[in-house]
Formats: sequence, C-alpha cells, structure tokens
Amino acid sequence: MYREKRIGAIVVAAGSGSRMGGNVAKQYRKIGGEMVFLRSVRALNEHPLIDDLFVVVKESDVNYCRGCLDGAGSLDKVRMLIPGGEERKESAQNGLRGAYAYWERMEIPAPRIILVHDAARPFLSEEVVDAVVRGADESGAAVPVIPLKDTVRSGEGTLDRSKLFAVQTPQGFDAELLRKAYKQADKDGVSGTDDASLTERLGVRTALVTGDYGNFKITTEEDLIWAEAMAKRLRTGGQAEELALRVGIGYDVHAFAPERKMILGGVRIDYPCGLAGHSDADVLTHAIMDALFGACGLGDIGRHFPDTDEAFKGISSLKLLRRTVGLLRESGFEPVNIDAVLIGERPKIGPYAKEMKKTLSKELGIEESQINIKGTTTEKLGFCGRGEGLAAQAVALCRTI
Ligand code: CTP
Ligand code: MG
Repeated sequence: MYREKRIGAIVVAAGSGSRMGGNVAKQYRKIGGEMVFLRSVRALNEHPLIDDLFVVVKESDVNYCRGCLDGAGSLDKVRMLIPGGEERKESAQNGLRGAYAYWERMEIPAPRIILVHDAARPFLSEEVVDAVVRGADESGAAVPVIPLKDTVRSGEGTLDRSKLFAVQTPQGFDAELLRKAYKQADKDGVSGTDDASLTERLGVRTALVTGDYGNFKITTEEDLIWAEAMAKRLRTGGQAEELALRVGIGYDVHAFAPERKMILGGVRIDYPCGLAGHSDADVLTHAIMDALFGACGLGDIGRHFPDTDEAFKGISSLKLLRRTVGLLRESGFEPVNIDAVLIGERPKIGPYAKEMKKTLSKELGIEESQINIKGTTTEKLGFCGRGEGLAAQAVALCRTI
C-alpha cells in the first residue's frame, strides 16, 4: 500500500562525535574508501521507496559537504543540505522544517511517511528500511530494534534481557505526527535522544520492527575497525579477495613545445621550453596515473580524462592525479608505491626529484619514501635522444582497501 506514497528521509549528520575524538568528526571518516555519511546517504538514495533526501550537517560544514556530495556522484535524491543544531533533536527538527519548506516551494504535497536516520549508521540494509516503512505505515511510528547481546544490569541488579532491546535508526513516522511531536516537545522543554520517544509522548504506540546487527552506530574508535571489516565483507560477498596487491604499468610521451612551461612530477622545471599537450603535459604524472589505473583494472587516463573535454584544457595534472586516487578509492583500491623514470637527454631531473616526491606524495596519500623518481638518457638514440620530446614510464603497486 505504501508503495504509492512518497517517502522522505532525513539524515542527521551534524554531531561532533565527541566519543570518537580525533581531528575529523566521525561522519567524515572513511570506511572502505568512502565517508561514513556518504555511505548512509547512499543506502537511502538507492532504496526504491525513498523519493526525497535531506542531509542535516553543521552550519560550518555545509559547503564542505556540498563538495563531498558533488564528488560522490549519483546521489540524485538529495534535495537540500540543512544546518543542524546543538542537540540531535534540534538537527532532526531543522531537517523536518527544511524538508517541508522544500515541498512547499516545489509545490509537491508533503509525503505521508518520513524516516529519520543517523548518518553514523552507514550499513543500512534495504530490509530494515522496508520493515520501518511498513511499521510506520501501519502504526504511525516504527523503530528497528535488536535483542541485546550482553547481560544488562542496573545498580539494583541484573535486568531481564528478554524484555530489552537496543534501538536503531531509521525511525519512521507519519509526517504530521512527527511534526506535532516536535512542537509538543518544544512546548514542554523535552529533548529525547530518539524521535520515537517524542511521538510516544502524544500517546502513539511505536511499532518495533526487526533491526540488524550490521546497522550499528559508529560511536567509538574501535567501531571503525568493525566498519572496515564490514565494508570489505560487503564488497567481496564474504569471499576471500582474489588479490590484495595489484601492479600496473604506465607509459607516456609528449613532444617539446616552445613557449610552454615545463611541469614534471607536478613541479615547475627551469627549462627554456615545455611540452605540447591538452593539459599541462606533465608526462611523468601522466605515466603514474596510467600505472595506477592499470593496476586497478580501470582502463587508462584517456578514458577518464579525455583530451576532447574542454574541462581538462590546461589543467594541472596534479588535479587529475587527485581525481585518479579518488576513483581508485571508489573502486576499493589505494596506492602502495610508485617507481617512475623520465626518459630524455634533458632536462636533468635529479635536482627536482625530492620536490617531486613531496608534491606527488600529497596527492597519492602515501609517504615520500614510497615514491621513487629517476631519469635516464637513451644514449642520444631515438626521438628522446634527438631531443624531440620526453617519455616517461611508471610502475604502480596498489592494494585493496
Ligand atoms: N547528530 C546531529 N546533530 C547533533 C548531534 C548528533 O545531527 N547535534 C547526529 C550525528 O551526526 C549522528 C547521529 O545524530 O549521525 C547520532 O548521534 P551520535 O551517535 O550521538 O553522534 P555525535 O553526537 O556526533 O557523537 P557523540 O555523542 O559521541 O558526540
Ligand atoms: Mg551525540
């Protein structure tokens, strides 16, 4: 029945992750190469029942998150980024307000069912969403629960575990009911840790539906370890991965060109001419990118950054390298080490090798010690020997994340 109705979902990601600590808030930590909050958003985006998604983030993170969402691609149901509040309840409430403002502005009737989901639960399954939607449709409010694994006690003694459940998200509600519940809670100065406790205050019983142990909330540092293992299991279907290490080769050639700057390995080289090419013609970085794509079975540089695309005209190859590493990560790989050789009589790259390693290591996300840059001549033989251009070769080792 609910299949004919629109369903909206709010993802709350405006917390500060104080129990996790660290410099980067937990929703922006990466699992299997993807940020926690993007995984959570993606789980809802991919669910066929969800129509509109609203992501609540810290006000100061709105621009940053917009960039993350743009970079993530294909999250086509995200309608708005909404600034959150001090408390989770405030964030969810801001999300709901923002969502209603959106539907009004678009002149779309508000959906009857709304889900509220923690961004910190990135392993949301289709089954849990189905169960919550069904429960909310039938009862007005539904939460996924799981039986407790540990024995629980209060100061007085051991509690009867069979009567206790841990509550997860998404929590699903009749949209009008949720609105009313927030309003009433505001009036009474109440802030619960979950949304269902607020609808219950209006006398509505919450349906308990089957949650999933995999849908755990990333809260403390060790949860990231479980999460990484979980991401790997999802990626491989529980099978041992065929190969944890993969190697690739890259080769590139550019002709010398007058009146162009010479950039090699991302570093400006003091030389009377540069190299011809659509981008900055950084032949060394191009060979490295091709080796990386090769190692991960992702084709080559031309497939990802075609030289017919105006967007890449004159672009710094370092930017392309950054995107290459991003594409690798999306496919579950990261670089391990690089060995590259520049082939030509001149310029000599020895004096620049250290700076190149430093520059490249930032984009590759690996230590400088994992990058080797060298040069060779061809004893004046061939096009390199005649000084017509430069060639570069690279070998890259990558590993699965
Ligand atoms: N959340 C939010 N706004 C807040 C607080 C929390 O949107 N003011 C979100 C979090 O980003 C998270 C979810 O609510 O996705 C569940 O909260 P929790 O796990 O407690 O996250 P944090 O509050 O960030 O962590 P901590 O309590 O350890 O500080
Ligand atoms: Mg919190």
